[in-house]
Amino acid sequence: MTANSLFSEADLDADAPLVLNGDPRPVRLAVIGKPVSHSLSPRMHQAVLDRLGKDTRYVAISVEPGRVAKCLSRMAKAGFIGCNVTVPHKHEAFDACDEHSDAASTFGVVNTIRFRDDGTIFGDNTDGAGLEAAVGEAFNLRFSSARIAIVGAGGGAGRAAALQAARSRATSLLLINRTTSKLRELTDKITALSPGTTVDTVPLDDCEGLRSAFASCDVLINATSVGLKPDDPPPIPAACLHPKLAVFDMIYNPAETPLMRAAREIGAPAANGLGMLIHQGALAFASWFPGTPHAAPTMRRELMD
Ligand code: ATR
Repeated sequence: MTANSLFSEADLDADAPLVLNGDPRPVRLAVIGKPVSHSLSPRMHQAVLDRLGKDTRYVAISVEPGRVAKCLSRMAKAGFIGCNVTVPHKHEAFDACDEHSDAASTFGVVNTIRFRDDGTIFGDNTDGAGLEAAVGEAFNLRFSSARIAIVGAGGGAGRAAALQAARSRATSLLLINRTTSKLRELTDKITALSPGTTVDTVPLDDCEGLRSAFASCDVLINATSVGLKPDDPPPIPAACLHPKLAVFDMIYNPAETPLMRAAREIGAPAANGLGMLIHQGALAFASWFPGTPHAAPTMRRELMD
């Protein structure tokens, strides 16, 4: 165990609860990933656990690829309630579960796990619903009646966003990707899930095509990693945006990405991904502690401090 509360699979001693720096409360929740030391999940979940007076610690556990199933089984034996799963383990965690929620089955990846009393592992995915809640909160917009554009739809995050929009029966989806061949299977899946949703694809380098397609979109979601580095350009040329196109960037660090800045400069509303992080976390918390007060306000306060 290291000073910053980062554990590894080796710290999970089956049959004995995990403890942290002499804290009498057992560790019964965690986020697993690699790397995971930067994760904000321990902070935001612990704030809610403490506020509710729960006798539980939430930590980060670094897990090697290929070891997820073994780690989950050790966690179950050590008395864990559940865990969150972050990159690169969401597929591996899906395969390790005995049963899945509808959302997890649709996305094919898991970000929330619950260890059931009967020894089985239940896999859920709150990323899509967390995104929908965050976009709704930021722009007062419902996926069920929205025209949604997603840049980076060919990646893992963009795929989940598009499938969530299909689950919610969005009016239309505009899928944008550098490599458009990656969108074929996704387009078919969206149509099967929601035949009433109009699906179009546009390559990232077709500025004219983007500009005209954006005229009939309400929100643009950035699901690429472009914007994480300070000198990144916006993933979409600023000239394609318009003032009525709200921009939601899944990135939350930096708090204002180049895409958000470009949107705000022409008077369009923009929000970063912090709300998505918070809402996916609050939904995970609710799955471990049903009936507890909505966790999002406490999580937000903790992260704003
Ligand atoms: P994953 O989420 O599956 O791990 P990723 O490599 O992180 O994938 O990429 C996520 C998304 O960001 C993809 O849609 C990717 O576009 P491609 O499918 O064409 O690779 C997109 N992406 C990453 N870097 C990009 C860049 N510099 N410009 C445009 N899109 C980019």
